[in-house]
Amino acid sequence: MKKSIVSVLFVAFAMLGSVNIAHAAGDAVKPPKMEWSFSGPFGTYDKAALQRGFLVFKSVCASCHSMKRIAFRNLEALGYSEGQIKAIAAEYTVMDGPDDEGEMFERAARPSDMFPSPFANDAAAKYANNGALPPDLSLITKARVGGADYLHAILTGYEDAPEHVHLMPGQYYNKYMSGGVIAMPTPLIDDQVMYEDGSPTTVDQYASDVSHFLNWAAEPELEVRKRMGIKVIIFLTIFAFVMYGVKRKIWSDLH
Ligand code: HEC
Repeated sequence: MKKSIVSVLFVAFAMLGSVNIAHAAGDAVKPPKMEWSFSGPFGTYDKAALQRGFLVFKSVCASCHSMKRIAFRNLEALGYSEGQIKAIAAEYTVMDGPDDEGEMFERAARPSDMFPSPFANDAAAKYANNGALPPDLSLITKARVGGADYLHAILTGYEDAPEHVHLMPGQYYNKYMSGGVIAMPTPLIDDQVMYEDGSPTTVDQYASDVSHFLNWAAEPELEVRKRMGIKVIIFLTIFAFVMYGVKRKIWSDLH
């Protein structure tokens, strides 16, 4: 019995240790902390930022990255109407089938379809990107330490490589990437995407908006979760007062 407790503790510490080692191995610069409307206990998503971020994703990132876990109809959370979502979906084609003759066929996407991937499979994606696989972006803010801060940093962190770093063709220097070398060419340049709401069309703004959007993609339930947390805390506070009153009443005879 005792032995098993010791081994459980050992495994637990070993796991903690390996997490630390994994963090320590990243020699990348820590991403700067940003102000997001969704941070903090009262945080909410900014719908205008989400729509701009989606526009950046759709016009820039989606040519290399998939976002497989998001369906067109999920975009309702960004404030789009059903009609707008139908129109957005119809811009894409998806593979469907087999039909009556056993053939697969292409058709315009519907709101219930997931975002189609830009490449037929991972091998094709790697082949088109110098052997590097552009990761699926559905959960990327959860998959990287620093979340949206990290994404913003990566997208704005391209620099000329310092002397001691030798880049192969298809490699770029980015101090926020672990190892300092990334196989993604600078995806954003100023004035690349037109905004209708008058927001600045700068790399920094695009990077903030697309990171905001991808944070929503990874965590659409964030607002509900935070609202629920506040309700629970209010409930527990009131409950604590009630229980204090009850305790005083029960013990009052003893004084
Ligand atoms: C020309 C193709 C291309 C475009 C366009 C592109 N990416 Fe990438 N991206 C890649 C490739 C390739 C990688 C893999 C890089 C590596 O492993 O070194 C990557 C990696 C990433 C990563 C992961 C970095 C890490 O920590 O491993 C993120 C995040 C990312 N891209 C976000 C974006 C966003 C957001 C956009 C749109 C603004 C975008 N990318 C546009 C090709 C692209």
